[in-house]
Amino acid sequence: MSTKDEMPIRKIDHVRFFVGNARQSAYFYRNAYGFDVVAYAGLETKVKHEAGYVVQQGGITFVIMSPLRANHPDSSRLILHGDGVSDIALQVDNVRHAYNLAVERGAIGVVGPRAIEDQYGLYEYATIRAYGDTTHTFVNRDNYKGAFAPGFDPIDPSRYNPATYHPTGLLGIDHIVGNVEEGRMNEWVEFYRKVLGFEQLVSFDDQDISTEYSALMSKVVQSGRGKIKFPINEPAQGRRKSQIEEYIDFYGGAGVQHIAMATNDIVKTVRALKANDVSFLRVPRTYYEGLGDRIGGIKEDIDELAELGILVDRDDEGYMLQIFTKPVQDRPTLFFEIIQREGSKSFGKGNFKALFEAIEREQETRGTL
Ligand code: FE2
Repeated sequence: MSTKDEMPIRKIDHVRFFVGNARQSAYFYRNAYGFDVVAYAGLETKVKHEAGYVVQQGGITFVIMSPLRANHPDSSRLILHGDGVSDIALQVDNVRHAYNLAVERGAIGVVGPRAIEDQYGLYEYATIRAYGDTTHTFVNRDNYKGAFAPGFDPIDPSRYNPATYHPTGLLGIDHIVGNVEEGRMNEWVEFYRKVLGFEQLVSFDDQDISTEYSALMSKVVQSGRGKIKFPINEPAQGRRKSQIEEYIDFYGGAGVQHIAMATNDIVKTVRALKANDVSFLRVPRTYYEGLGDRIGGIKEDIDELAELGILVDRDDEGYMLQIFTKPVQDRPTLFFEIIQREGSKSFGKGNFKALFEAIEREQETRGTL
């Protein structure tokens, strides 16, 4: 019997970030990335130990939290990791069942099944460990009608001016990539397969993805026929320090490397993000020479893609367009990808070389190559 049927995971419910200053981060996600700030938790909502904001755009929900005191567990997490993703929450039919099954299959429990009731209904969750200090929380909100979860209130309408809210066309999370320590990729692929019933999709090895310096290996696991996709990277031996090693060094261990967010008009989305001063990685102009011949017919204008630095890749099922932001904090750790899929289900393997060379130019400026 397939393990998938035993633990149906519906979708990514939300991604939780821990940051040094949730108030300022919420402003960044709203004014740079075009998220709507919908809920708040903190002292005013009788939450004493942390404060945070729920931001949403399309089907994407980010929860951005900061500890309010030194004894909060996220305070030591901030010292170790800087800002980052603490939890990828997965929506399930039955929290208790998902948690018990996961633990039975070898997951390490962090928070056992809990059901919290407030005036808006019943919110259920339980948390297990994933790679590094990252966790997965199983969530069920079928009987909850509140702003987000108990402790959160709808955002005070006077906090943000609705006239300054401009969505950028982000529709959903396409995939979330984890960087793990050298030699541990297969272990985590097995975790997703055995514990959460994911299936393995494709793999790249260092022959596929290497430049002079930045070798890596990657395998993709997915759930719900591709609704949830988690590529897992590990560093491979290169001549000098790979981007994955650089991440692990600055993050202080394994963690979320990037979150890919889908749009159905990448040109429009990237123009909007650039107008808000979002910084993207640039590939050299030579990437676009002969691109039309390599890629075949696409509906987008290649000159416009070149102007914006958007990459294209094709496989037998179609093509995809993608672009990567620079890290969104001072440490060279978490960044975002913007992706538009036109039939292709791939991750842009054909772009890896150009992309890694672009990352290496950035590493060079940081002196970490
Ligand atoms: Fe990606």
